[in-house]
Amino acid sequence: MRFQIPVHVADRSYTVHIGPGLFAQVGNLTALALQRQAHRAFIVADARVPASVVIAVADSLKSVGLAVRSWALKPSEQDKSLASVERILIEMAKAKLERDDPVIALGGGIIGDVTGFAAAIYRRGIPVIQCPTTLLAMVDASVGGKTGVNLALAEGSLADLKKNFVGVFHQPRLVIADIDSLKTLPPRVLRCGLAECIKHGLLGAIGGDTALLSWMETRLDLFLAQDPDSLVELVSRNVAIKARIVAGDEREEADDATGGRALLNLGHTFAHAIETISHLSPDGTPKNAPLQHGEAVGLGLIAAAATSRALQLCDAATADRITTIINRAGLPTRIAGLPTDEELIAQMLHDKKVRAGELRLILPTQSGDAQVVRNPPSEAVKAGIAAIVLPV
Ligand SMILES: NC(=O)c1ccc[n+]([C@@H]2O[C@H](COP(=O)([O-])OP(=O)(O)OC[C@H]3O[C@@H](n4cnc5c(N)ncnc54)[C@H](O)[C@@H]3O)[C@@H](O)[C@H]2O)c1
Repeated sequence: MRFQIPVHVADRSYTVHIGPGLFAQVGNLTALALQRQAHRAFIVADARVPASVVIAVADSLKSVGLAVRSWALKPSEQDKSLASVERILIEMAKAKLERDDPVIALGGGIIGDVTGFAAAIYRRGIPVIQCPTTLLAMVDASVGGKTGVNLALAEGSLADLKKNFVGVFHQPRLVIADIDSLKTLPPRVLRCGLAECIKHGLLGAIGGDTALLSWMETRLDLFLAQDPDSLVELVSRNVAIKARIVAGDEREEADDATGGRALLNLGHTFAHAIETISHLSPDGTPKNAPLQHGEAVGLGLIAAAATSRALQLCDAATADRITTIINRAGLPTRIAGLPTDEELIAQMLHDKKVRAGELRLILPTQSGDAQVVRNPPSEAVKAGIAAIVLPV
């Protein structure tokens, strides 16, 4: 099974290819997608992607006449930094990459975001081909053109990491999601991808697929067991939702009443605050700290639903359904060790979605949709936080 989903953006539309065995075709697909003749290609690879996968991609690019160099990065949120971007820029310059030569981002969302940003600013912009290798990157990060890095206000401190604070829009020329690459993913990382899929399911009404959430509820076990056809359909339906929302508001400029692309941040203001608290872990054990992005997103969705419930924007059945599917996906639904409500809200006020010092939360509604809520009453936000606190 194989799908091609078009992403329509102002500059230049592009295609997301989804299926098994696709990394052997990166060369051909790249040659077709580039407008001008390229001579070299540069791969930025996730150091945890098996060498055989990097070699397959490099061989495929060589087969269409490109000279290929690659460079590996072991991704972490701390290394999603301007320093990493500078290293990549230097390596690209050493590889003598020119304006028409593509850079290939081969890895999870961190590699995609950092590499996309480097591609956007190298010689004022060169083509980037996104080759996502995590479920989260396939369904979300590789599509839509947001690139960037975190900004560390203090060295080494996760709490002072401003998530995705520096970046630009730089749409990929092509996205190739080879489902086979998910086989080596640690189960924890696969589950993180399901959190963003659940988020898309909650946006089904605006994304044109109202059946996605209930379809996912019936297939969760197949996703976790890595059934290939189920994964291809899962990625395709999620990419279609993201593509439709991005096409409607490419640069997130819609007003709050319309929502637009900002709705894709459903649950994310809670998530960004939670994931920068370094001692938190999904099971309370220090060895599993910190939370991964998808785990924080799952908790953020539950907190957003409880906030929405407190504001009577959604009913109890909707909020319970969200908690149940996140739990069934093997993601944490409550955690120990959160700071006080006031401290967490203060951290949320550092989110880049804040405007004029006011919180802007994206909250789910029971209609399979979401809405922007400006400056919600703190009691409602506290009700959201209470929903994810593990009682001691
Ligand atoms: N640009 C966007 O629109 C967008 C959207 C959503 C998330 N993001 C960003 O994406 C990042 C999260 O992405 P992620 O969940 O992919 O995390 P990640 O990039 O940290 O990857 C997760 C882990 O999986 C490993 N890995 C990757 N591919 C592998 C493979 N095939 N086999 C074995 N291990 C593999 C990585 O080395 C890492 O340890 C966050 O920084 C988030 O801000 C960006």
